[in-house]
This record gives sequence, C-alpha cells and structure tokens, in this order.
Amino acid sequence: MKREHWGSRLGFILSVAGSAIGLANIWRLPYLVGKGGGAVFLFLYLICLLLIGFPVLISEILIGRNTEEAPGMAFEKIGKSKWWGMGGRMTILTGFMVSTFYSAVAGWIMGYWIEAITGHLQFTTFSEASDHYNHLVSNPFWCIGFHFAFQLICVGVLFYGVRQGIERWNKILMPMLFAILIILVIKGLSQPGAEKGLEFLFKPDWSKLTPAMGLMALGQSFFTLSLGQGTMVTYGSYLNRKESLIKTGIPVVIMDTVVALLAAVAVFTIVFSGGAEPASGPGLIFNTLPVAWSQMPGGTVLASAFFFLVFIAAVTSEISAMEPTIAYLMDEKKFKRKNAVLLCGSLVFLVGIPSALSYSIFNGNLIGDMNFLESMDFICSSILIPFGGFLAVVLVGWKWGLKKALPEIRVGSESVFDRYSFIPGYFWVCLKYTAPILIIFVFLNSIGVI
Ligand code: PHE
Repeated sequence: MKREHWGSRLGFILSVAGSAIGLANIWRLPYLVGKGGGAVFLFLYLICLLLIGFPVLISEILIGRNTEEAPGMAFEKIGKSKWWGMGGRMTILTGFMVSTFYSAVAGWIMGYWIEAITGHLQFTTFSEASDHYNHLVSNPFWCIGFHFAFQLICVGVLFYGVRQGIERWNKILMPMLFAILIILVIKGLSQPGAEKGLEFLFKPDWSKLTPAMGLMALGQSFFTLSLGQGTMVTYGSYLNRKESLIKTGIPVVIMDTVVALLAAVAVFTIVFSGGAEPASGPGLIFNTLPVAWSQMPGGTVLASAFFFLVFIAAVTSEISAMEPTIAYLMDEKKFKRKNAVLLCGSLVFLVGIPSALSYSIFNGNLIGDMNFLESMDFICSSILIPFGGFLAVVLVGWKWGLKKALPEIRVGSESVFDRYSFIPGYFWVCLKYTAPILIIFVFLNSIGVI
C-alpha cells in the first residue's frame, strides 16, 4: 500500500501545531505559571523549549521523514537493531496510554462546554463552583458518556486518513482556535484590574526560582510538543523527504508558545480582575474561571467560547496521540486504515474507562496517593515520555551520529544552514549533550532519586 503524504507544507505545520497545542497549553501551563510564581516559570520554560524541546522535535520528525515508517520500524531501521525497534514500539504504546486518559479529561471539557452553553456555569462563590465540579466528575454516566462522545469525534476524523481527515480538520480547527483565543485575550485585557494579571505573568520575581520549578518547566516543554510518544515520528513519516525540518519546526514551536502565552493572558487577566487566587492548581479552569465569568456581562458566551476552544485543542491533540497506533497496525500488521481506526478507538475507549471513572467508581489509589487517572498521567508524563524522548535523541545524536544526521537535517533547509552558520553547532551541542543530560535529570527527579 502506498503511504499517504500531507497535501501541503501549511497542512503539515497546522497538523503538528494542532498536536502540540492542547490541554497542556491552555489548562496546564496557566496553572503551572500560577503555582510557579509567574514570569520566572515562563522564562525557564522558554529556555527548555530552545535547548531541548526544539532539538528533540526535529530529531523525531527526522526519524519519521527519513524512514517513512511508524515509530517501531523507524527506530529499527535507523538503529539497525531489534532493540531499537522495541524502543520505538514502546513509544507507540506510550502515545496510546496518553490518548486513553487524555480522552477522559477531554470528555470533561466537552461536558463543561455543554454546561456553559446551557447556562449551568453561573456561580457566586468558589465553593459553589467546586461543588458543581465534584458533582459532575463523580457522576459515572456523565464521565463515560462524554469520554465516549469525544472518542467518536476523534474516530470520525481519523477514519478519513491523513489528508482528508487529520490535515483537513486541522486546517479548519486551528484557525478557529486562534480566532477565539484572540477574542478572549481582548476581552480579558479590557477588564478592570487586567494589568495586575499581566504584571503577574511578565514581571519576574527571581526569589521564586527553584530547581523543582526548572524540572517542571522541562516536563511541560516535552508534553506540550507531544514528544516522546511516537506522535512526531509518525507525523514526520507522512512528510515529503525533501521538506525542510527547520522551516516547519520553527513555526510550530512559535505557534505553540504564542498560544500558551495568549491562553495565560486570557486566563490571568480574568482571574485577577475577579479577585481570585492565581495558584489554585488544576481546578483553575473548572472552578476559578466560571466564578469570574459569572460576574461579567456576556459571561455565558465567554465561558462557552473558552470551553469550545479547549475542546478543539483537545481533539487535534488526541488524534495525534492515536495516530502512531493506527500507523503501527497498518504498517506492521497490515490492517486497512478504517479497521485500524475502529480498533484503536474502541481500545482507547475501553482502556480509558478507569481514568474516566477515577473520581467515582474507581476512586481508589493506584500509585501512592494518586488515583488511576493521576497514576496514568504520572507514568506517562514523568517516566515514559521523557524516556521516549531520550531514546529519540540518543538514536539521532549517538547511534546514527551527527556526522550522518546533520546532512539529513540540512536536506530542505540548505538556505537556512548557509545563512546561519551556528545551526550545526547548536544541534551538535543540544542533541549530543544538553538534551540527553537534562532529560536524565528530569527523569531522576520525577521518580524521586534527586
Ligand atoms: N501536546 C499536547 C498538549 O499540549 C498533548 C499531547 C500529548 C498530544 C501526547 C499528543 C500526544 O496537550
């Protein structure tokens, strides 16, 4: 079977950006910034993107582009051993696991969107808002229903393939996401007290700088770029061999960062103008924002627009977490695309059920004091994803070696390489040293060794 390819460079960029821009940008970054003392966290996060996120992104797309294979075979071809192939297949499994709990959380987002549209998010106090949140997430029917509905939508997109499904929907949904976000930012900035939110975001308080925050920033830069789980290798495998990695990778990182920053502006201007607590953790968008919206004229429209925005971001990311499994079933198990999509969607739904029910039927602890969903998130974000990213950089930086890999990165980007002579040095230092070493640090930290 002939491998499908992206229809255009723009389609590829928007699809990769669609994968990257997700709950991590709109939900996770704002609350990490809230916890991590504002601008200091942002600053660390940008450094991590530059030194690790971008080089790992380029390595993963390169592995896919040069082999035109799903991650298992792709790693095996470049690493020239079955062991590397096993590593590549592990990243596919990681993407699959991410897609199961991501779908459960995206289900809540969808449910909240419906709550917003139907005017059920009107609260005068934070405790009212959090009671409502607890009431919803402890309702098994609500959680499973939206988890299922969300999967149906993703399967619907994936069914039609790379060009007619993934690329087409990203080209429709991403511009929509940008438009809604800009409206929300303008609305946020026009609130009284908005400047306090901006000050919090952009004026660093260096006394808050801690090593733990650096590690949090690193983890975030990985998750937000969808690294370490086969996604970028798979999307890269549908890329034309001559396509420039630099000219496609840079716009993606910029878009991902700009959306994260704009989302943070939209969230914190509202949080501060409503007099709420910025460090309120994961509940920030479910509890804190609805109270602030309730006090504003047009609050229902704003809340509906916001949750729709997050919903779009979640769909375009979820499909990218599922695609490696689908590509694997097609490439290695010779499935037809439609069967592969149906099988993958059903498995994601089934395996995602305990995550969806983590605040009701399955609310017991799995690892330490974490419930099923939190444990899955922990295993993936703190262990499997850094490990997958580590494999990709070691494969490119050490096993394949930069003598061979650099000329390949150059393919399609000759003019950029000729103009900026520091580029080979940058990749050499990052891929061989900074990225693998720093990933080992985060990894040891997250499993509690340092
Ligand atoms: N990058 C996505 C986000 O920021 C998350 C994601 C994880 C996407 C894994 C694909 C695969 O939310």
